[in-house]
Amino acid sequence: MPIDLDRYYTPEDVAISALERGVFPTVPKVCADSTCGSGRLLDAANMVFGSVEAIGIDRDVEAISQLRLRRPHWHLSVGDLLHPSTGEALSRSRPVDLLVLNPPFSQGPKKFVEIEFAGREIRGSIAMAHLMRSFDLFRPSLGAIVIAPESLLYSETDQNARQALEERYQLTKLADLQRCTFRGAKVQASVVQILPGLHRQDHKEIRYYNGIISVNVVRGSLPVHMMISDPSGLPFIHSTDLKRIASTGKAEGLSKTGILAKGRTKGWVILLPRVGLPDCQAIKAVKLESTVQLSDCVIALEFTTKAAATKAEKRIQSRWAEFKDLYRGTGARYITIARLGLWLPAIAISPGSH
Ligand SMILES: C[S@@+](CC[C@H](N)C(=O)[O-])C[C@H]1O[C@@H](n2cnc3c(N)ncnc32)[C@H](O)[C@@H]1O
Repeated sequence: MPIDLDRYYTPEDVAISALERGVFPTVPKVCADSTCGSGRLLDAANMVFGSVEAIGIDRDVEAISQLRLRRPHWHLSVGDLLHPSTGEALSRSRPVDLLVLNPPFSQGPKKFVEIEFAGREIRGSIAMAHLMRSFDLFRPSLGAIVIAPESLLYSETDQNARQALEERYQLTKLADLQRCTFRGAKVQASVVQILPGLHRQDHKEIRYYNGIISVNVVRGSLPVHMMISDPSGLPFIHSTDLKRIASTGKAEGLSKTGILAKGRTKGWVILLPRVGLPDCQAIKAVKLESTVQLSDCVIALEFTTKAAATKAEKRIQSRWAEFKDLYRGTGARYITIARLGLWLPAIAISPGSH
């Protein structure tokens, strides 16, 4: 019996709009498609994210030969993704930011296949098997945008697999595709974003914010016990100063430090405690007239204008419960730059972009 290669390639416009719907903390630079076919999703990644390093695998020899001619600089290989030996060497060689996937949907006569994921044996659909194998192989730092049969999100067959994925990733449906999207196949497919980490992020809400605000996140690094008082030094901001600075709107009466370290800031900022739960009143846009040194317990969100800083303040306060939830830990609660960076795009604040 001939092998069904599932050559239902993603139309160009569908591939582009699928990737455009994704919300990412940083722009992906290395993208992989483990069933790349004619390379439509990787082409779309290059259009949407700018020039990316593209990695493609497919078991269709003909498709890979043609793609090699068309895209000689991509990293392409022929292989059966579900075969244990495939892709191991490739996936280990370079870290991947984002998977872009439209795995085969055709189930054949089998109701389910066996999937090995994170050392566990799970049963699921063929599409889920490809998805999980791709995650196991590439461990993409920004997760994936997947064109998947709708059943992958709801079916009983994939329930255990979904649970296993959701222990590490958040699955969000970004759109439903029309039944006639794939020539010759009538399936109900969806665009799904799979993002590592936070579970309560709501991607849809980004659509309701008026404009994306650029922010630079600065983490202080000078421990209080290393600070040496020097009247001619820089003002030193510790987390115990944050309430007062927020209520007066001024960074006055601070100790000055003769020792300097990374994490200095100036201009329009919102100051956050890195350790200890934040106080809603203390999260305020303030202008620092001169450069200050931040303690290792303080993070600054730097903005280019007063308008951006005050807008950001309102957005954080409007999602206060979620923001507070970023502070985790069994002892003292603390936030990490990574957790903050994953959440800020949910309120249309884009880190690292100015
Ligand atoms: C639905 S198409 C999608 C192709 C491409 N990602 C796109 O969006 O246009 C599925 C692709 O999976 C490939 N494929 C099917 N089974 C595979 C396997 N076990 N390993 C690798 N590729 C496979 C097929 O050759 C086909 O190119």
